[in-house]
This record gives sequence, structure tokens and C-alpha cells, in this order.
Amino acid sequence: MTTDPGLETLKARVASATLGPEARETGAVTEIADGLAHVSGLSGARLGEVLHFCDGARGFVLNLGERDLQAAFLDPATGIEAGSAVTRTGQLASVPVGKALQGRVVDPMGRPLDDLGPVGASDTALAEGDAPPIIDRDFVTQPVETGLLVIDALFAIGRGQRELIIGERGTGKTSIAVDAILNQKHSDIVCIYVAIGQRTTAVRRVIEAVREKGAFDRTIFVVAPATSEPGLRWLAPFAATSMAEWVRDRGGHALIVYDDLSKHAAVHRELALLSRQPPGREAYPGDIFYLHARLLERSAKLSQARGAGSLTALPIAEIEAGNLSAYIPTNLISISDGQIVTSAALFAGNQRPAVDVGLSVSRVGGKAQAPALRSIAGRLRLDYAQYLEMKMFSRFGGFGDEAMKKRLDRGERIGALLAQERYAPLSTTAQVALLAALTDGALESVALRQFPALKAALGPLVAAEPRLAALRTAPRVDDATRAAAIACVKTAIARLPAAKPGPKPHPEQAPVA
Ligand SMILES: Nc1ncnc2c1ncn2[C@@H]1O[C@H](COP(=O)(O)OP(=O)(O)O)[C@@H](O)[C@H]1O
Ligand SMILES: [Mg+2]
Repeated sequence: MTTDPGLETLKARVASATLGPEARETGAVTEIADGLAHVSGLSGARLGEVLHFCDGARGFVLNLGERDLQAAFLDPATGIEAGSAVTRTGQLASVPVGKALQGRVVDPMGRPLDDLGPVGASDTALAEGDAPPIIDRDFVTQPVETGLLVIDALFAIGRGQRELIIGERGTGKTSIAVDAILNQKHSDIVCIYVAIGQRTTAVRRVIEAVREKGAFDRTIFVVAPATSEPGLRWLAPFAATSMAEWVRDRGGHALIVYDDLSKHAAVHRELALLSRQPPGREAYPGDIFYLHARLLERSAKLSQARGAGSLTALPIAEIEAGNLSAYIPTNLISISDGQIVTSAALFAGNQRPAVDVGLSVSRVGGKAQAPALRSIAGRLRLDYAQYLEMKMFSRFGGFGDEAMKKRLDRGERIGALLAQERYAPLSTTAQVALLAALTDGALESVALRQFPALKAALGPLVAAEPRLAALRTAPRVDDATRAAAIACVKTAIARLPAAKPGPKPHPEQAPVA
């Protein structure tokens, strides 16, 4: 008779198990509110510890009070009422991490939300890990290429940087972040998209876009939609960061998008008010700044000794009525390394991505920018800002001046270069070629409405040009390379179908402000 090896190991485990008394602290629910329980009798519990409720639901300790503690649920609490038993697990909230998560859609606890079965991750990590100490960090020197000319040229982002994307609802914030993810299709960067309190349909659109156009197999989706437990929404950015750190700590590079932290701040406030913490400014509890600071501190470029990995963060924040100086926006601006501000007026004027060049800034990315791009993009921002100002004044009375007309015309062309369709990334080489052609005056013959077609035609041309192969990393652009780049643009222009006058003026000619 053959014996089942599985049965044998089970028998061995039973035989070697030591049975004895075990002390387990049990408390009781004293009060239950939306997604939050007040629990008494667990005096030994720690912040962040996972608790088991009698109906099988789990929660974690959010707040320790003098007499009781408050726990946020991680599962729907159906059979819990005042008096229900609660036990400690002694474990802090942790999440699965590892390569198996890439190409998956999971909730903040790592449970699958797609239909691909269990995740089967190799390892777990604490959801609230510590940020790397200063000694383990290095300068930001390598770029994250977003494929968006307005960002790569004017507000370059470096690996390890935290760049806030902030603006009103419906101004293309998510689209900018998604474009940045799509552009990693052929890079070594692993992406993590965290949806916090978003509508399920909006999240689905993002996932579908990445599935169709981009780096799905190297992207992790962590989703805590508006309908999920507040505890899950609260935990989502921390849990997702732990998944990203797994990449960072192995010498890899990760890019995390928090969409969005205003909604995270709102769920933090909701839970704090239910726990009866004293409300502070705008009714947020006093620790909201510290909460997000400790989250964003985990993004870093690590030193050689620590494997030289990096975690770059693109937190998103929504503002109301253009009010950048509200409480949460000012907090987030002060704990990030710059902000991309999207403007409702630009968006309405069809300048998309609607990046406000005057209010946006990138404080560390310049050093990481491709040198070819940096040398060429130098004057661009100033020229564009001057153009926007001049355009305002030119509305009051026509400038007859030839020189002025020329500058306005050039500004319009810069605007058309900075505009970009969604899901149409430009390689760094194509960006350099376009900017070189602009400086050279080669774009003067191109009608503004032909710019999208020009950009689309240029991509394959510059990719196939051997003299431009090293441009992306070259320390400087020599004259021959520059000429080759401009020649590519001219070839693309020559192949454009003739522009027919359209029925309405081109969006770029619409009023900006
Ligand atoms: N570059 C773009 N070109 C054309 N349309 C865009 C662009 N960016 C965004 N949009 C449009 O604007 C809508 C809102 O964008 P979204 O990124 O969801 O805004 P937000 O995240 O700020 O609310 C999108 O559904 C899309 O139709
Ligand atoms: Mg959005």
C-alpha cells in the first residue's frame, strides 16, 4: 500500500506540535460606525496591528485612545455589533510583494480583483515601512521619461523625485500620469497605479488604456474605489508603496502614481472624525501633514551601497476653483519636489496637456534631464511665458510691428509643440528634433493643425536614423547630429498631406485665459 506523502507530513506536524495554554487578549466592540469600530479591553494592541473580529472580518488599529482604541475595517463588517469579541493577532498590517503582482489588479491587501486567480506572491512586507535614512540616499541623476514634451522638456522628472500633479477635476491630471506609465513600455521602470476613492468606471478606463497601449505586464494596479471600506482606502497608498519598495530595494526602478491624495486626505478626516479626534484646519486632524510626509518620504533614489534603485512618485491632488493655497494642496506642495499644475482655462482652450507653465516647477529633475534636451529646451520656457503675456496685450490693440508678429507666431508654434494627444508619447530623440527644428525656423511653414500629424510621422523617422541613435544619452548635441535631427523633421514635413483650411480656427488660436 502506498502512503500519501501529504498525509505523512501532516502526521509529522501533528506529532511534533506542542500543545499548551496560550494567552490571547480578547476585547469587545463598544461602538460601531461606518467602517470603524471602537474596541475596549485590548490594552496591549499597537498602532497598525491587525485585529480579528468575531465574524471573520479583519481590521487594523488606527488610533490608540486612553480607554479604548479605534480600528478601521479591512473587510465588510456584517455581523458585528456592540459587545462582539475582538482578538489581537500581534501582527502589523502587511501586504504581499514581489514580481507576481506585475500585470495584476489587486486591492490594498493584495487580494486579486481581476480574474487571474490567486496572486501567489513570494513575500510580504509591512504596509507602513520606514523611509530610507539620508545616509542611504543618493542624488537624483537619471530621468523618468514621460513622453510628454511639456514635462520632459520644461519640468523634467528624475528617478527618486516626488512630483505632484495638481489641478481641478477634469483637467487631465490622471491622463498625464497614465501617459507617463504608458511610456515605460520599453523602459526598465515598474509602474504602480494606486486608485484611492475613484469611481470604478474611471479606474477601469485607466486599466484598459494601459492594457491596450502600454506596459501592462510591468504595472501593478492597486485599487480601493469609492465604494470600498474606508480602512482599505486609507491603507491603499501605504500598501502600494510597499509593493513599489520591493522593486526599489532590489536595485530596480519603480514609478508610483497616487490617484489621488485629496481623496486619501478625505478618508483620513472621515475616520478621524468617527474616532472623535479633535478636528483642526478645514476639519482635518492635526496629523494629516505628517501622514503624507511619511508616505512621500519613502520615494527615494538609493545609494550605490544600497543597490542604486529608485522609487519616483507622482502624487495627484484635486483642487477646487483653482485654489492652490487650500490646506491639503499647500501641504502636498511643501512635501514634494515640484508640481505640475493643470489649468481649467487652458484645458477649455484645448491646450492639452493643460500644464500651466507659470505655476509648474520641477525642483530636482533638471539635473536628470537628457543633456541634449536640456541645452535645447533652455529658452523655451521663457519664450513661451513671454508669448502668453504678449498675447494678452495684443488683444487690446493689434501690434503692427513685424518683430512682434514673429514672436507671437513662434509662441503659437511652441504652444502647438507642447500640446499632445493622449497615448501618443514622443521619444526624447523626437522631442530634441522638434525643438531643434523650432529654433532653426524649420517649423514656420507648418500649419498649426498639422502638428499632431507631424509628431506622429516623426517618431519612426528618428528611430530609424542611425546618426541619432546616441542622442538620448549624449552629453551634448554636435552640429552634425543637430542637422540630422532637423533633416528628419523636414522629411516628416514633406510627407504631410497638404493642410486644408478647417471650418473653425485651430484650438491653439483660441483665447488662453
Ligand atoms: N492630452 C489630452 N488630449 C485630449 N484630451 C484629453 C487629454 N488629456 C485629457 N483629456 C480628456 O479630458 C478628460 C479628463 O481627463 P482626466 O485625466 O480624467 O482628468 P482629471 O484626472 O484631472 O479629472 C479625459 O477623459 C479626456 O477625454
Ligand atoms: Mg483623475
